Amino acid sequence: MSKKILIVVGSLRQGSYNLKIAKHIVKSNPIQAEFKIAKIDDLALYSELYDDASETPEAYTRIREDVEQADGVIFITPEYNRGTSAALKNAIDVVSRPWGQSKWNNKPCSIISSTIGTSGAISANYQVRQTLNCLNAPVMPAPEVCLFGISSSFNENDELINEIVEKILENFTQSFDRWIEKFKRDF
Ligand SMILES: Cc1cc2nc3c(=O)[nH]c(=O)nc-3n(C[C@H](O)[C@H](O)[C@H](O)COP(=O)(O)O)c2cc1C
Repeated sequence: MSKKILIVVGSLRQGSYNLKIAKHIVKSNPIQAEFKIAKIDDLALYSELYDDASETPEAYTRIREDVEQADGVIFITPEYNRGTSAALKNAIDVVSRPWGQSKWNNKPCSIISSTIGTSGAISANYQVRQTLNCLNAPVMPAPEVCLFGISSSFNENDELINEIVEKILENFTQSFDRWIEKFKRDF
């Protein structure tokens, strides 16, 4: 059976480079996995008020089930002011609650960050890692993928034209495939 991998993209905008990276991974699919890109743009900002079952938004239930059903989760984050996006952090918070029902516990995760700038969005990458660490999600330590100057890596048809980035993403996806297997062996 192929692995189910959920991809959480931190940018909500249509022309997002982080979303293009996600779509490239889904399309190239070097590990023959079943990928799904999570919908996070309709998640209400998390409040403990929503922990009450009668108040829980449908979108909360959807993303929690998506994470629960996934064998692993790939985060692809932009960097906003040296951190991850509010949308991505909100999605992590939503899935971490109600208390005692977090779906991140023991869920294999991995992180890609990218920016049109020169930093590789490494601060955002590490912020996501820090949050997942406290939720007991085993985050793949390497390869670290922090992509800079990402706008020149895609053409006008949203195709990845940078062979080095292509190789990096292929290696990352294959490594994550092996990382997931360390935690679950009944594929
Ligand atoms: C509010 C805001 C803050 C940003 N801060 C950073 C930053 O700290 N570091 C960085 O490298 N790029 C920063 N950028 C530029 C983003 O890297 C760029 O907008 C990128 O394309 C966003 O990802 P996306 O293409 O997936 O939407 C920022 C952009 C916005 C809108």
